[in-house]
Amino acid sequence: MTDDNTPITRVLDGANDMLTDRRSFMSGAAKLGVGGALLSMTGIGSAAAQDDDTEEVTDIDILNYALTLEHLEAEYYTQALDHFSERDFESFGSPGMMTFDTNLPRYETYQNYEKIRDHEIAHVETLTQVIEDLGGTPVEAAEYDFPYNDIHEFVDLSATIEDVGVSAYAGAAPMIQNSDLLSAALSIHSVEARHASYIRLQRDGGSPPFEGQEGAFDPARTMDEVIAIASQFIVSD
Ligand SMILES: [Fe+2]
Ligand SMILES: [Fe+2]
Repeated sequence: MTDDNTPITRVLDGANDMLTDRRSFMSGAAKLGVGGALLSMTGIGSAAAQDDDTEEVTDIDILNYALTLEHLEAEYYTQALDHFSERDFESFGSPGMMTFDTNLPRYETYQNYEKIRDHEIAHVETLTQVIEDLGGTPVEAAEYDFPYNDIHEFVDLSATIEDVGVSAYAGAAPMIQNSDLLSAALSIHSVEARHASYIRLQRDGGSPPFEGQEGAFDPARTMDEVIAIASQFIVSD
């Protein structure tokens, strides 16, 4: 069974230009209403968006788009690990206890979220450095409001945020012109997928991470779709 919205399906249908056309990326940005704060943070200007015959999305624009999401992820885990204790992750009824029936993986749950947080911080630092090296201006972190009240809601939201990251890289990567940057983006993409797998395991109480999503190909998300989700958590830029 395949998902009709995957890039591979679009290729087979001869309709892949929706995700690979750089102008589509720009015009999608121009249509934003709800994602205005995020759009301004990405540094993608509205003037360029209004004149997409002459302006083109650059690799720096796409890297800033990725950096916007990485800032969000890094701050998300930093806040959560300040807010929740090891006990919240591992005690009776916790995601760690519900997922792992042996002690070692259960009692490493908090530490594994620390590793995920550190990956996100490394993504922020590396993307920032690459954008500067290319002569661009890296976007700054915003202020965020993440809607969870307990550890289970946090795990649910983590799965959503990681899935958004995975699909965002899949949607944006085909528009990157520099092959070295594409390789770098793909090296982040697979790490985000690993985060998503670990967190889904906990969200679903130990069921395989592909439970309920059995297709051999994943959908990609356009910039519009990503921003509509991510902007819910951004309260200021
Ligand atoms: Fe990341
Ligand atoms: Fe991640």
